[in-house]
Amino acid sequence: MTAVPTITLNDGTRIPQLGFGVFQIPPAETHEAVTRALEVGYRHIDTAEMYRNEAQVGTAVAASGLDRDEVFLTSKLNNGFHRPDDARRAFDRTLAALGTDHVDLFLIHWPLPTLYEGDFVSTWEALVEFHRDGRARSVGVSNFQTAHLDRLAAETDHVPSVNQIEVHPYLTNDTVREHARAMGIVIEAWSPIAQGAVLDDPEIGKIAAAHGRTPAQVVLRWHLQRGDVVFPKTVNPERMRENFDLFSFELADDEMAAITGLDRGERGRTGPNPDVFDHVPD
Ligand SMILES: NC(=O)c1ccc[n+]([C@@H]2O[C@H](COP(=O)([O-])OP(=O)(O)OC[C@H]3O[C@@H](n4cnc5c(N)ncnc54)[C@H](OP(=O)(O)O)[C@@H]3O)[C@@H](O)[C@H]2O)c1
Repeated sequence: MTAVPTITLNDGTRIPQLGFGVFQIPPAETHEAVTRALEVGYRHIDTAEMYRNEAQVGTAVAASGLDRDEVFLTSKLNNGFHRPDDARRAFDRTLAALGTDHVDLFLIHWPLPTLYEGDFVSTWEALVEFHRDGRARSVGVSNFQTAHLDRLAAETDHVPSVNQIEVHPYLTNDTVREHARAMGIVIEAWSPIAQGAVLDDPEIGKIAAAHGRTPAQVVLRWHLQRGDVVFPKTVNPERMRENFDLFSFELADDEMAAITGLDRGERGRTGPNPDVFDHVPD
């Protein structure tokens, strides 16, 4: 089976650079999808309380026959639970839902700078507690902009291990990426194929044809060569295999640059802007 490279985080733990995302997989389909993904070889699953499918991720991992330590599990704190006591209870519920005594990575899902009197720092300090008590092997953030990262650095003594942000060829997000990387934070690129929106791009199609690869494989390979972590989502086992088969070809520097050159800046963003996003699910 293909060996997926790992990246060492700033706390010394190692994360598989390629995983499997379960956003928008309905709970009733999640056990099956994660089971198939583990069969293909994925050993890193990215879920969130917001996705309502943590329990089904947990049952699939438990039923797989794999040791818990063979699978890297990430979940995220939902937007309604930023106050530290709420975060502590939410984290307990996440562990119970996943059926595990620890997660490998736990993230603040969104910074919500317009809510909670702008306080995401005390939320972060609660996550650091989970790290220190061993129940979150690593902790990080998601959708944090440069100013949010700077504030954590200035006001706390713990730098996030990762920042999970929207990154794909139409939103390279390089300002946030480079800022975070300079702080020793690993980037996780969410919606790595822009939920399919970049796959018909002629430039990507041309590069894919030159390598005898699919557009999805070329875009995922571009992320890996940039040093980011990805976890494409699919419920289709064929595509699970396609998205996992990234380690026997390499993009040349000019191909990397051509894909990066497709950046549309803010126009390319497909998800909410983290500076203003304030949705709290029921
Ligand atoms: N932190 C955050 O705020 C945040 C936000 C969004 C996502 N995420 C994480 O990032 C993960 C990935 O992002 P995403 O799910 O938004 O989008 P994505 O992985 O970029 O794209 C998923 C979509 O592309 C299709 N697809 C997958 N592989 C394909 C292939 N080889 N060829 C053609 N189409 C393909 C899937 O359809 P089928 O399923 O029908 O194959 C699905 O519609 C999520 O699952 C989640 O874990 C995090």
